[in-house]
Amino acid sequence: MLDDRYLAERREHIALSAAGSSEEIEAGNPYKFESGQTTHFSICDNLGNMVAITTTLNADFGSKLVVDGAGFLLNNEMDDFSIKPGLPNSYGLVGAEANKIEPGKRMLSSMTPTLVFCHDQPRLIVGAPGGSKIITTVAEAIINITRFGLSLDETMSAPRFHHQWLPDTIYLEAGGFHPSTIAQLRSMGHAVAERPPYSDLQVIWIEASGLMAGASDPRGPGAPAGY
Ligand code: DON
Repeated sequence: MLDDRYLAERREHIALSAAGSSEEIEAGNPYKFESGQTTHFSICDNLGNMVAITTTLNADFGSKLVVDGAGFLLNNEMDDFSIKPGLPNSYGLVGAEANKIEPGKRMLSSMTPTLVFCHDQPRLIVGAPGGSKIITTVAEAIINITRFGLSLDETMSAPRFHHQWLPDTIYLEAGGFHPSTIAQLRSMGHAVAERPPYSDLQVIWIEASGLMAGASDPRGPGAPAGY
């Protein structure tokens, strides 16, 4: 909420010459600038040390409890356990015994911070937020770069698709797929649903020469930076 761009947007609603109407003031949307739940960083230094960090509160603002005096929020990661066999969590994931709540256990996670090597040489640092859709977002990025030869920019803006076993539906990013593709999938018996753009991929590509290129998802607020 302290992002300069967010504050500039809020400031636009203030007229300096006339009183505004409280009725017309609506809540702002800070999510365009900062994730309320999950964040990924891909980092590499000049010695080749690589870090892929995905960190999560799970849902928006986690449990919505701030630790007194410390200023950070507590997560609501209990949602990543199966609270009852067959009952989906907030990301629609259905689990059972293996992921049931028990002392000493760690709940499942879709978080996929990934380092890709080719013959022991580092090539890619990849990761993303997006709940259950993290896994497909990261897999599609790796496949697009390493198998289909897409550039980083093309990879970032490539339309995404997702399936997570249950619900038994293929989710396609709205507007990203040709109607004939959707019709063909339906004619094959797939349930298909469109979703608004999702996730926020962060990638660093490392050339054999050691040259690095970073790219941030155009859907999110991130930006690559070199120091
Ligand atoms: O660990 C997990 O799989 C979830 N807690 C991640 C939640 C998430 O990515 C939410 N949003 N973008």
